[in-house]
Amino acid sequence: MHLEIRDLLKTFDGFVALDHVTLSVDEREFVCLLGPSGCGKTTLLRIVAGLLPFDGGELRLGGRDLGAVPARERGFGIVFQSYSLFPNMTVAENIGYGLKIRRVTRARIASRVGELLNLIKLPGVADRYPWQLSGGQQQRVALARALAVDPSLILLDEPLSALDPRVRAELRAEIRDVQRRLGIPTIMVTHDQEEAMVLADKVVCMNHGLIEQVGTPQDLYLRPRSRFVADFMGSSNLLPTGWVREAMPHLLASRPDGAEDAFEACVRPESVALTPASDGEARVVDQTFLGNVRRLRLSWRSREFTCETRHDLGINDGEAVRIEVAPDACAWVRA
Ligand SMILES: Nc1ncnc2c1ncn2[C@@H]1O[C@H](COP(=O)(O)OP(=O)(O)OP(=O)(O)O)[C@@H](O)[C@H]1O
Ligand SMILES: [Mg+2]
Repeated sequence: MHLEIRDLLKTFDGFVALDHVTLSVDEREFVCLLGPSGCGKTTLLRIVAGLLPFDGGELRLGGRDLGAVPARERGFGIVFQSYSLFPNMTVAENIGYGLKIRRVTRARIASRVGELLNLIKLPGVADRYPWQLSGGQQQRVALARALAVDPSLILLDEPLSALDPRVRAELRAEIRDVQRRLGIPTIMVTHDQEEAMVLADKVVCMNHGLIEQVGTPQDLYLRPRSRFVADFMGSSNLLPTGWVREAMPHLLASRPDGAEDAFEACVRPESVALTPASDGEARVVDQTFLGNVRRLRLSWRSREFTCETRHDLGINDGEAVRIEVAPDACAWVRA
């Protein structure tokens, strides 16, 4: 089913937490809300869940106005950041809880719980209590509990952020897999851009209660529209127009019209070709070996410029290099 959020306004004592947010989540779509702490991600998710009232705008699921539908009648599956399992219930009781209050028969619940435990790859833990599980296992169970009631929408608020990086990557892949298979539209909050890139069909980049940009991970990375999005989606060289005019005038062809300081060029460190050349304009300041790439800090026309290369170019610190940036490797962003 299709979720439509239109012109949503939320204030807390005059503070605008969501500033006329408009967003849609299509059938089978995985949407990630991405943005810094305090930008309104959780607020938006809680409003969609029905756990928080709002001050203006509209919320529709499959055309139906959700405004007057209480949280428990929305039939959404929700997983929060901190482990939210009922501590005094076994895994099976936790997963089956939503079905039990819907008066599903015991036999049906048992078979559904078994099915879900297989889905989350944890068969055999049905009789354990949450404290007998690892953090990652608890979040898997929380996901199973959210899925038990065949939700029309899944809402995930940083479900992986308390886990260590390895478990996190593993569980991220599983969530993606399960969501693809079941095709349930999903909104997940994260402030980790890599997580958003891996999981999302559509990334919603938020800042101060506003949506800065919505698009595929590729769109946001390769064609950011603002300095904020460029910065948030990985590292980049943000270059003023005047500097580009001196150093790389061929990039100006794609610059939108506007005042001199209205736009900056965004050049990603990996989209730069470097050649050692004694007449090169840039100089290597230092280099860091990161395993898959080498990061070089350069000084170029009194600016710092960062590049990444896959291979060892055999350049020493202090030596000169020539830099080439293909026109399509540059995106112009609002400064
Ligand atoms: N109940 C509340 N009363 C007053 N202000 C609130 C309340 N809940 C949230 N806020 C404010 O609204 C803004 C958005 O909060 P929200 O929890 O949505 O941020 P977030 O994007 O989820 O951040 P984080 O990444 O830290 O979880 C913050 O400035 C927060 O202080
Ligand atoms: Mg939050």
